[in-house]
Amino acid sequence: MSILKVARMGHPVLRQRTRPVDKHEIRTDAFQKLIDDMIETMEEYSGIGLAAPQVHESKRLFVAVLDAEGQGEGEPIALINPEITVLSGALIDGWEGCLSIPDIRGRVPRAPHISVSALNREGKRIEIEARDFPARVIQHETDHLDGVLFFDRMRTFESLTFMDEFSRYHGRREEEEEEE
Ligand code: NI
Repeated sequence: MSILKVARMGHPVLRQRTRPVDKHEIRTDAFQKLIDDMIETMEEYSGIGLAAPQVHESKRLFVAVLDAEGQGEGEPIALINPEITVLSGALIDGWEGCLSIPDIRGRVPRAPHISVSALNREGKRIEIEARDFPARVIQHETDHLDGVLFFDRMRTFESLTFMDEFSRYHGRREEEEEEE
C-alpha cells in the first residue's frame, strides 16, 4: 500500500466531474489497490473521508468511515458510483473540513437524513441509510465527485476559521468536526 499525494484547492482535478466506474473495473488489481491506498492515505492524514479526485483520480469513488460520532472509529468502506436520495429536506448547519483545504473549518448546511445507493468494493449494489454526521460525510464526499467543494455549499463565509482558532473558540464538545 502507498500513501498518495492529496490535491489541494486550486488543482483543476478537484473541479472536474468524475466518470462513473465500470463494474468490471472494480475487480481489477489496480482499482482494488487504489481503494487500499486511499484508505491508507485517509488514515495517514486523520481523515474521515477521501474522494478519488483528491488523489488525482477522476473516478466516482470515495472511502469513508461512517460512524455516528465522527471519531473515525470503525471499518472504512468504499462507495462507488454513489447516488444520494434526500429523505429530509430541512438543511442543518455543521462544521466541516477537507483534506484538500487544509487547516480550515466552516459551517455547511446539509440534509440530516439521506439514503445512498452505490456499489461496494466487491461490485455489489448496497443501500445505506444515514443520519446526521455520517449523512454529512456522504454528502461532502459525493460533492467531490461532482467537482464541488464545501465552500460552495456555505450560506455565508462568516464561520470560516483556522484550526487553532476553531479549537480555541468553537470547541469540540457539541460541534461535529470532520476532515474529508
Ligand atoms: Ni473534502
